[in-house]
Amino acid sequence: MTTNSTIVYLDGLFLPLEQAFVPVLDRGFIFGDGVYEVIPAYGGRLFRLGEHLQRLDDSLAGIRLANPMSDREWGEVLDALVTKNGGGEQSIYLQITRGVAPRDHAFPANTRPTVFANSTPLKPVAAELLASGVAAITIEDIRWKHCHIKAIALLPNVLLRQQAIDAGAQEAILIRDGLVTEGAASNIFMVKDGVINTPPKGALLLPGITRDLALELAAAHGLPHRECDFSRNELLRADEAWLSSSTKELLPITRIDGQAIGSGTPGPVWQHINQLYQAYKRALIAGEVE
Ligand code: PDD
Repeated sequence: MTTNSTIVYLDGLFLPLEQAFVPVLDRGFIFGDGVYEVIPAYGGRLFRLGEHLQRLDDSLAGIRLANPMSDREWGEVLDALVTKNGGGEQSIYLQITRGVAPRDHAFPANTRPTVFANSTPLKPVAAELLASGVAAITIEDIRWKHCHIKAIALLPNVLLRQQAIDAGAQEAILIRDGLVTEGAASNIFMVKDGVINTPPKGALLLPGITRDLALELAAAHGLPHRECDFSRNELLRADEAWLSSSTKELLPITRIDGQAIGSGTPGPVWQHINQLYQAYKRALIAGEVE
């Protein structure tokens, strides 16, 4: 084992990545039968851990799988994973599947869930992207109707995001029944006449932790905001748009389907909310907030 080898967690053990294996009959491999979380760490501290573990509980309940660990145990395992991988800025991925069993769609009896977590370096979003914003395309939301569950079965999201990449864009903005739901791997915000808008939570989108923090910061600092559905046309006529996710943070979207959004550059409301977000991260590193 080299000193810089990635350490992962698998079913109670911390192992070098190269030594971690899952049997081929794992239901995660066979059916995509599992859920996951992505949790950033800044300055070695897990970001909004309580909120991520609550969403994990909700996802597990959504697929009728008992949580194999308490929040305290999760905290210990994930903190240890961050430390073993050198602290600093990391993206922690964890997944729980329904375990290893002969292939049959129905739930197996008495099967132990498979629990896996790893860490990758969390690279800051490139300064050029923050300066210019990114392009997105809109596509019909072809996913199922339980998008609030953070399921590992991501084939629709994979295909949609690849369609965006093939079109020279960074993200696919998904449209269901004429309304924006979210991105293929992010939540979506738009600003009109100084008001921040993001679609309300429900079964058609993932309740993003970054999304919630952006709304929390907007509320705490008196920025007008509302959770409200909007159409593709309203999005195209917005003054500003941005996406949110644990790995991309708050990233301005300046072109959608080839059209400039507002001035075609990152707008003042994004600048403001992003400053608040970055200040929140600094407070986390200083141990002032979770
Ligand atoms: N994805 N919506 C979808 C479909 C997502 O996959 C994600 C995040 C989000 C944003 O959620 P959060 O702010 O909690 O990261 C919204 C993660 C980062 C991923 O799959 O890699």
